[in-house]
Amino acid sequence: MSRVAYVNGNYLPHSQATVHIEDRGFQFADGVYEVWSVFDGKLADYDGHMTRLARSLTELRIDIPMTRAALTRVLKETVRRNRVVNGIVYLQVTRGTARRDHPFPAQGTPPSVIVTSKSVSFAKAQDQARKGVAVITQPDIRWGRCDIKTVGLLANVLAKQAARDGGAYEAWMVDEMGLVTEGSSTNAWIVDKDGRLRTRDTQANILKGCTRTTLMALIAEEGLELDERPFSVEDAKQAREAFFTAAGAFVMPAVSIDGTRIGDGTPGPIATRLRERYLEKARADAV
Ligand code: PDD
Repeated sequence: MSRVAYVNGNYLPHSQATVHIEDRGFQFADGVYEVWSVFDGKLADYDGHMTRLARSLTELRIDIPMTRAALTRVLKETVRRNRVVNGIVYLQVTRGTARRDHPFPAQGTPPSVIVTSKSVSFAKAQDQARKGVAVITQPDIRWGRCDIKTVGLLANVLAKQAARDGGAYEAWMVDEMGLVTEGSSTNAWIVDKDGRLRTRDTQANILKGCTRTTLMALIAEEGLELDERPFSVEDAKQAREAFFTAAGAFVMPAVSIDGTRIGDGTPGPIATRLRERYLEKARADAV
């Protein structure tokens, strides 16, 4: 079955799904995106991603392209047409198409909207989570507005490729103080050597992950203490557990950092428990 994408009002086979060469997303990375996990054909953390999308668009002064209800119909229809049961749905909104020039185009230039969806093997992800994955560290060389989910991801791409080249799953980015900011496409967490859960606060230059937000509610329910406080690479290497969160990865245990084994080198009990709880909740709340 050929995959189907939504492009500016039309559902098209991928082979015909194209945007203009002067789309500002292509020319300037002048656009934003969201990724929802799909469970049983339904969208997880629906509200969180929708709210963050609206914020990203507002921060960049890109027009909201359609109502939330209309956008939801498009997301769901793209999932349905691709027969995705478990996987992801991807949305990108750019500032539209205009003759290449740095300032914003004329008012009223319609934003471009594209949506794709693909199946992801849940069994494979579960297997990775059972074994745990390797993480490497990379300098955080990104711009100062990582709170906005823009498609300008070159630094993230380079960090992720460094991870792949090093046989690792994810790269954790590190600021000039030696403190971990976040992963190349995930938020970073540890259970430190004193047993305290830690993740970077969102005053720092990071993305406020929707998975992170949902997980925080579950952490409170579990009666666990959470310290929203930076941790260093050294803290992470000495931690009892390490893991990261994102749509698609859910809660993924990390068992080594730059080749140093974390804990006993297997996924820890807190990460494992939080993954189960997150999957349960995300599935139950999916719309
Ligand atoms: N990435 N930090 C960064 C830099 C990210 O790109 C992402 C998500 C996250 C986690 O956010 P959330 O929990 O809302 O998915 C944190 C998506 C999955 C991506 O780029 O494909």
